[in-house]
Amino acid sequence: MIGVLVSGGGTNLQALLDAGLPVRAVASNKRGAPALARAGDLPTASFELSDYASRAERDTAMADWLQQHDVDVVVLAGYMHLLTPQFLERFPARVINVHPSLLPDFPGAHAVADQLAAGVRESGVTVHVVDEGIDSGPILLQERVPVLEGDTVETLHERIKRVEHRLLPQAVEELLCAR
Ligand code: GRF
Repeated sequence: MIGVLVSGGGTNLQALLDAGLPVRAVASNKRGAPALARAGDLPTASFELSDYASRAERDTAMADWLQQHDVDVVVLAGYMHLLTPQFLERFPARVINVHPSLLPDFPGAHAVADQLAAGVRESGVTVHVVDEGIDSGPILLQERVPVLEGDTVETLHERIKRVEHRLLPQAVEELLCAR
C-alpha cells in the first residue's frame, strides 16, 4: 500500500489517485498544504517540525502513522523536507521521489529556476529512490523535457509537470509489480 507525502499543490498526488494506484494515506509537513484537500476520504495527517523536539522524532511519528495505515511504499510528491535515516530505515529502498530536472544535474528546491538561470536547452523529470542526500539515490525513470524560447519558471515547470504526472505513476506501478 502507498503513502504519499506532500507539501504543496498536490498535482502529483492527483496523478497517482487518477491512475488508480493503491494510495492509503497522505501526510504533510505543513498543516495547510493545499495538496491535503485532494486526498478526499483518505486518512490525512500533518507532522509539523515545530510540534516535535527534533526532525528524527517528527519522522518517527510520521513513519509510525504511515505503518499504522499499512503503508509499505512511500511516494514523495512535492514533499519539501529531507527525510532522516530514522524514517528511511523504516521503508528500505521503498521511498521514491519525483524531481523536475535530469538528475544528478540541478538537485535542490529551486531546480526549475536554476536550469533557466544556467541557460540549459533541455530539462527533464527524474523519478528516483530516496537516500539521505538531496535528490540523490538510484534513478528509476528519467525523461527529457525541452526548454523553449521565452520560457519562464512557470511555463517550464508546467511542461515538466505534465511529464511528471505520467512518469511518477508509471514508476510506482513498476515498483509495485516488481515486489
Ligand atoms: C513537482 O515539480 C516535483 O517534481 C517537485 O515539486 C513539485 C510538486 O508539485 N518535487 P505538486 O505539489 O505535485 O503539484
